[in-house]
Amino acid sequence: MMGQLPSGACGVRILGTGSAVPDRRLTNDDFARMMDTSDEWITQRTGIRERRVLDLRTEGCSTLAQRALERAIEGAGIKAEELDFVIVATVTMEMTCPSVACRIAGAVGAKNAAAFDLGAACSGFVYALNTAEAMIRAGRARTIAVLGAEAMSSILDYTDRSVSILFGDAAGCAIIQADPDPTKGCIYQHMGADGSGWHALYIPRRESDVPAEDADNPIRLGSLRMNGKEVFRFAVTKFKEVMEDAFKKTSLTPDDVSQVICHQSNIRIIDAAREKLGIDSSKIYVNIDRYGNSSAGSVPLCLDELWRAGKITKGKPFMMVAFGGGLTWASSVWNT
Ligand code: COA
Repeated sequence: MMGQLPSGACGVRILGTGSAVPDRRLTNDDFARMMDTSDEWITQRTGIRERRVLDLRTEGCSTLAQRALERAIEGAGIKAEELDFVIVATVTMEMTCPSVACRIAGAVGAKNAAAFDLGAACSGFVYALNTAEAMIRAGRARTIAVLGAEAMSSILDYTDRSVSILFGDAAGCAIIQADPDPTKGCIYQHMGADGSGWHALYIPRRESDVPAEDADNPIRLGSLRMNGKEVFRFAVTKFKEVMEDAFKKTSLTPDDVSQVICHQSNIRIIDAAREKLGIDSSKIYVNIDRYGNSSAGSVPLCLDELWRAGKITKGKPFMMVAFGGGLTWASSVWNT
């Protein structure tokens, strides 16, 4: 990570983005064939119609992360050697050692990059992006690849209808770089955590990880467990709070931003926050119908789709907001 470092005050720009999803689709009707559920129930309660799933015999989180990174490098028009850091937000790495970041940095030839994974569940990409942006502004790095990548299908118990229907696999990447214009980059960021609520969303590995009140949960060890109602309540309140805070601190109104990219958890959660804040639906990107909730992959997947469609317009700020396990939450407002 010893490339040429910027000196003095600098801004940060997004050079390019990339994303990747598996080819395999799992539709609501596929679930209805596997368990007692229906397309109508899932669509009405969540807005999800289908999600993508990896073939876990040969693929994993690194497969998607590498593809997203390669596409972002191509989109950014840089050489892999220019990267000072590769940071991957994930909770579904194939191995805890080595990190996904090390594996994909090696695979693409980012030989000058330091690499590490960051765990903040669904808030992971926004946490990682905020961290990376601050490193560039501090002059510690010039070019960083930030990814959110998840193989959610590797931590789901597909015999349980209450959790498995919500999630899908995806990865997204943004490559950011120091820019001489200090007004460019993140103009406001906020990150928070409330560890006292961890048991609302967790992946127990051992019996002893399971709190007494969840001892009867039929979901097997190693798979994601969730108190859907508790997470729903937390999410609706937190989404509104986090967005309200970001608008207030930046003195921006919803009309001033080109897009608000929300973590794709449930269309009802997104709509509730949008309605409370009076944001027009055209400003809030939604792809949950096609991909479900891909945890840390969801915000960068939206970002890539918007970036490639030219909807992140120059000179107009955009906002990213996420919440997730931990419990965690994060916002990031960018001037492009
Ligand atoms: N198909 C059909 N019925 C289902 C079902 C499914 N896939 N999953 C649960 N049900 C049943 C329940 O068993 C329950 O039946 P009962 O009344 O006989 O006990 C009934 O539907 C209602 O369940 P409930 O949990 O009250 O549904 P809900 O309206 O709260 O919706 C979620 C469930 C999971 C969609 C909702 O709680 C949610 O979205 N929570 C937040 C999840 C989230 O965003 N997680 C990720 C955070 S990053």
